[in-house]
Amino acid sequence: MISCDPRPPCAHRLRTCCRRLFAAKAHWAVCSFAHDLAGGGMSLKSYPALKYLYVKMNIFKNTLLALLAVTTLIGCDTRQNVRERADFNDGWRFHLGDVAEASAPAFDDSDWRELDLPHDWAVEGDFSQDNPSGTGGGALPGGIGWYRKTFFAPAEEADRVWRLDFDGVYMNAEVFVNGESLGVRPYGYISFGYDISPLLKWGEDNVVAVRVDNSEQPNSRWYSGCGIYRNVWLTKTEKVRVAPNGTYVYTCAECHNAGAFQVHTSVLAENDQVEKVNLRQILMDADGNEVERVEEVVNVADASSKGLQFVLDEAHLWSIEDPYLYTLVTEVESVEGQLFDRYETRMGLRYFEFSAEKGFSLNGKPVKINGVCLHHDFGCLGSAFNKNAARRQLEILKEMGCNAIRTSHNPPAPELLDLCDEMGFIVQDEAFDMWRKRKTTYDYSRYFNEWHERDLTDFILRDRNHPSIFMWSIGNEVLEQWSDAAADTLSLAEANLILNFGHSADMLAKEGEGMSVNSLLTKKLADMVRALDSSRPVTAGCNEPNPYNHLFRSGALDIIGYNYHNQNVADVPKLFPGKPFIITESNSALMTRGYYVMPSDSMVICPDRWDIPYYDPSFSCSSYDNCHAPWGNTHEETLKLVRDNDFVSGQYVWTGFDYIGEPTPYGWPARSSYFGIVDLAGFPKDVYYLYKSEWTDEPVLHLFPHWNWNPGQEVDLWCYYNNADEVELFVNGVSQGVRAKTKDCLHTMWRTVYEPGTIEVVAYKDGKEVSRNARHTAGEPAQIRLVMEQYGEGAADDALAFVSVEILDKDGNLCPSAENQVSFELEGDSAFIAGVDNGNPISMERFKDNKRKAFYGKCLVVLQADKAGKTVLKATSPGLEPAEVIFKTR
Ligand code: GAL
Repeated sequence: MISCDPRPPCAHRLRTCCRRLFAAKAHWAVCSFAHDLAGGGMSLKSYPALKYLYVKMNIFKNTLLALLAVTTLIGCDTRQNVRERADFNDGWRFHLGDVAEASAPAFDDSDWRELDLPHDWAVEGDFSQDNPSGTGGGALPGGIGWYRKTFFAPAEEADRVWRLDFDGVYMNAEVFVNGESLGVRPYGYISFGYDISPLLKWGEDNVVAVRVDNSEQPNSRWYSGCGIYRNVWLTKTEKVRVAPNGTYVYTCAECHNAGAFQVHTSVLAENDQVEKVNLRQILMDADGNEVERVEEVVNVADASSKGLQFVLDEAHLWSIEDPYLYTLVTEVESVEGQLFDRYETRMGLRYFEFSAEKGFSLNGKPVKINGVCLHHDFGCLGSAFNKNAARRQLEILKEMGCNAIRTSHNPPAPELLDLCDEMGFIVQDEAFDMWRKRKTTYDYSRYFNEWHERDLTDFILRDRNHPSIFMWSIGNEVLEQWSDAAADTLSLAEANLILNFGHSADMLAKEGEGMSVNSLLTKKLADMVRALDSSRPVTAGCNEPNPYNHLFRSGALDIIGYNYHNQNVADVPKLFPGKPFIITESNSALMTRGYYVMPSDSMVICPDRWDIPYYDPSFSCSSYDNCHAPWGNTHEETLKLVRDNDFVSGQYVWTGFDYIGEPTPYGWPARSSYFGIVDLAGFPKDVYYLYKSEWTDEPVLHLFPHWNWNPGQEVDLWCYYNNADEVELFVNGVSQGVRAKTKDCLHTMWRTVYEPGTIEVVAYKDGKEVSRNARHTAGEPAQIRLVMEQYGEGAADDALAFVSVEILDKDGNLCPSAENQVSFELEGDSAFIAGVDNGNPISMERFKDNKRKAFYGKCLVVLQADKAGKTVLKATSPGLEPAEVIFKTR
């Protein structure tokens, strides 16, 4: 609906409203008169017959305008429209491959593929050992791709500013408008944008073309995706406006009165006549009620340095349990009262502390940071951003008791941070995986010198109002930790070797030496961050625990962050007196959902070394917590370390979800990770319930593995539980003993002998049974069960249905080793299949398909809404009873 604000006496608002009405080819005659009266185009003074009226009845003008506004604009609602922001995702054309003339407006793209963004072309491809990304990058294709979109810019908008914002394009994005290049942006994880108004042809069609170049690989240590993989936005404003990301809500971390905060606003004015503006900040509560407002006339040039102060008597604080959000409405007006801009910033109020002795506290209460690292892909959806896919990941993690996310190791999609604000996560927002020294041949180190200042600045400006962000990380395991890692000449394997194993004392800073170049660089980056946001500490994920690490030596890190090195943690208070500490990355434990290596109390540490290929014909890792990389440890070990040391603020487990690429410990054909607590399809591995039992009070009684073995085989059964004193296992009704977990062992274990039938675990509290859980030996696969979880409502919000497909025997037991191939068919056209997966890290099946083999009894199909309606998903497999579910969209 066309919306405008008819409030008198604002000539400007009326003019804007008329423009919109005109664009909609409505009410033009009435509006043009009102428009002229309002001082747009021709002024009232230009009408000789009305000159007398102008001179003598100037007061009447406002009244007249008010009347005109009210009477001619009936039907308009009362929202402001000085700023309009809408996604610019629909109706693009795409071509894979380079095309010489594709930036030219007249270029004929009619045979290019039509698609809507976000889009990732790599996930549509086939896995191949020959793809230059290598297995570390997911063995999916790269290349060069072009996107084009034609759009109309109404003549009436000519005095406005149109800006295009790209949340993320991987990588080397060159944006052209009407054939003119606006520049190349190399960093594929950064958000960027351009004022495109000077290049637009008003009243005509315009063409935006984007060339994306991800041909030189490897350039990321895991899957990046290819293309315009995040949202694109078109924002229309007046010339006097709040700058992009132009507000900064400064909430002082240490001030225990979170209700006292400041707002800084950068104002842009291309209109020379506007030197001063009236800046008004209105704080609205979560229900949209005004809480308080402050305003002041400021010079445009120094608006940003001018903090407007709020002091609330009672602030509703943001917390993990109650992530309460306010909205700050910034209005920019002329001193005469003409509204130029109305800009909204979502914000939260909280105070926190990282203490060297007591760890982290939020709003005065001690809180352990129980976090996970997350990389940005969504399994079979690739890196194409979908808020519903991100919401699903976060909901699964929240249910496990996870309260924190590290955006390893790059700026995430902005909506991920919105979700963290809304859902209550403690975010460590990370800028870079490398600085000047490279980790992979074509990575960001090539661009670092030229781009780091711009990228780091844009990153902080974009993210600094998110209440969920509690610390900035300026880098992960950068090679600048050491004096000379000679990274420019290293292969990936060699660089990783240095990262994870060999560094001699020679490579550390020296006692008595001045600041090294690497320390100076650390200080430069940390100072840049603090200059833009002094309300949060700066850290970095370091895997050199020695205080002579050049990053630590800079003294610029507010929090000491270790990746792994549990064995060094006890020394932190001694080595870094007065410094808070967090485990920025932990465990790197390895697991394949559904696969178990016994005896379960023997440990598999693999690979022996990063550069020595590990091989096991199973290409699998055990799902007991008994397998990890040599630089890591088990999940239980770090849980205990964090629990038992108050000075440890918490940990970020590597990783919450499996991700495409980095299939440590294996090489080809493995192509996705084994590190996740949850697999690539979103199915929890057993260890999920360890965390849930330790991190929540929600009842957990998880007995594993399954009960389908060879008769007589010795089988270890484990149980994760909480809210009980002890648990007892029964095999076919015979007790195998009562066990209890201890401070040192967070699971119970029984070594049993397999016989088909039923295993059952019973939990007791104060001697009374509180819960029980049984598993039965499954028979032959007989039927399919579908379980659908819907996220979102329809096409407008890219709704997704995640449908879990389970292979069951005739009695409804999951068949734990079933590999049946399931085919999917849709009836109805309101949705399409967005992807299929099963969590198998070595599957060569395509992610974009209408069939999938089950992996340990399960697979997944994801449907995406295309329009309102009803689509029936039918799942069939030879010899199995089929199943169907209905995906309804609005
Ligand atoms: C860390 C690194 C992560 C990932 C992980 C795998 O050293 O920071 O990015 O590679 O190892 O164990």
